[in-house]
Amino acid sequence: MKNRKKVLITAGPTVEELDPVRYISNYSTGTMGYSLAREAVNRGYEVALISGPVSIPAPHGAKLVKVTTAREMLGAVKKHIGGSSCLVMAAAVCDFAPAKRSATKIKKRARLVIQFTPNPDILGEVKDVPGVFKVGFALETGGLFGKALCKLKAKGLDLIVANKAGRGRKDGGPFGAGKKDFMVISRDGRKRTRMGVTKEKMAGYIFDDIEKAAEAA
Ligand code: C5P
Repeated sequence: MKNRKKVLITAGPTVEELDPVRYISNYSTGTMGYSLAREAVNRGYEVALISGPVSIPAPHGAKLVKVTTAREMLGAVKKHIGGSSCLVMAAAVCDFAPAKRSATKIKKRARLVIQFTPNPDILGEVKDVPGVFKVGFALETGGLFGKALCKLKAKGLDLIVANKAGRGRKDGGPFGAGKKDFMVISRDGRKRTRMGVTKEKMAGYIFDDIEKAAEAA
């Protein structure tokens, strides 16, 4: 099918290597981004899915671009954003990467100090690309509305979807499958909450918002 609208979706964690066998990352499973990609395919969009390492299958019909680090994800986003009507950054990008990756396995020692350097902010880097409806996510332990609204403004987003972080891996928090609580904030500061919905259902709500905004434009 020609002239389909193209959407770009990022998903999963990024993984930043310390040495050939160790890394830092986060608990992201890719469920939200992959649900968004499936929803977009079902709605007839041409979908590019840029994904960090995850163990779930990619939706049929999406073009899967596998990346590992935040820098690789940035490169892939820049490469694929041209011609896209929408970018949904559902990936949990690591804010920091080890300043230096050791080429050999770091040996046991009494004390190990690792220096980290900030990763590029992917949304920040594509902020000024015109004609792209930009959706971001925010994961916060508290002050959800205020922090997410600040993020929306700082990153030049049209929409932000915020979740409260849990206490850690054991309670699952916003990671993985199951019913979750979401707050959706638009550019004008309008807030809606969606309590106890699956990520599949949430993906539908997000694309409803994207399409409504496109109709209004
Ligand atoms: O990590 P943070 O809370 O700032 O993430 C908010 C949004 O920014 C998310 O949509 C995430 O995908 C994106 N992000 C990014 N580049 C980073 C970190 C986060 O684009 N380096």
